[in-house]
Amino acid sequence: MARELIARVHGLTKRFGERAVLSDVDLEIGRGEFVALLGRSGSGKSTLLRILAGLDTAIEGEARVDGAVSVAFQQPRLLPWRRVWRNVVLGLPDRGRDRALAERALSEVRLADHADAWPRTLSGGEAQRVSLARALVREPDLLLLDEPFGALDALTRLAMHRLVEDLWTEHRPGVLLVTHDVDEALLLADRVLVLGEGRIIAEHVLDHPRPRAVSDHIDVRARVLADLGVTDHAIA
Ligand SMILES: Nc1ncnc2c1ncn2[C@@H]1O[C@H](COP(=O)(O)OP(=O)(O)OP(=O)(O)O)[C@@H](O)[C@H]1O
Ligand SMILES: [Mg+2]
Repeated sequence: MARELIARVHGLTKRFGERAVLSDVDLEIGRGEFVALLGRSGSGKSTLLRILAGLDTAIEGEARVDGAVSVAFQQPRLLPWRRVWRNVVLGLPDRGRDRALAERALSEVRLADHADAWPRTLSGGEAQRVSLARALVREPDLLLLDEPFGALDALTRLAMHRLVEDLWTEHRPGVLLVTHDVDEALLLADRVLVLGEGRIIAEHVLDHPRPRAVSDHIDVRARVLADLGVTDHAIA
């Protein structure tokens, strides 16, 4: 049986002026599939994400998502004058005042006791978890994560990996995770894509059962680093 797709990108080209940042990109994400997208700075990862989020529609080719989409960005982008719970449900057409809904999402990211806090009183990791709660409350079929842990310290980042894995196991959205962290991709994803020169230049399937250790896919690690043009003789 053909797998059900939640996102389909076909022949996608994105130009800024004369310059094509994405050229003829094809990408499919299955329902419930976790895909990681790596690529050097400026390779077009965020551009692709914005297109899938519907934030940029000036494209050539096709970029279709069948269902609800949520995005969490590198910075949590919370409104400082709204309490945490209001940030979570902000902008929901019907339930923008639904405190119970916000509290449920906050408890999923282990922040139930911060519902009434002001954003400026949160740590970086807490703010990022509020951002995740805000994405989850929309019950997305496709969750787009643009380097959501990039600004966090290593320990907090590890805790966030576990949290995202738990949330994904529980809700099973399709995920497209943009990251610079190869190990993060190896821990979390079903498939790793590498973007280079505006195209998908490599794809690696990760089939080790979860929870994983980085060493479970040490072979793929070396190949992904090579795809990224990182040559380090210390890498076995
Ligand atoms: N609105 C815009 N106008 C013109 N050029 C843009 C615009 N947005 C992005 N670009 C250019 O497109 C290219 C890809 O940008 P993008 O933000 O997608 O890269 P990225 O892979 O997400 O990089 P990073 O890893 O640094 O976040 C960059 O060269 C950037 O300067
Ligand atoms: Mg980016």
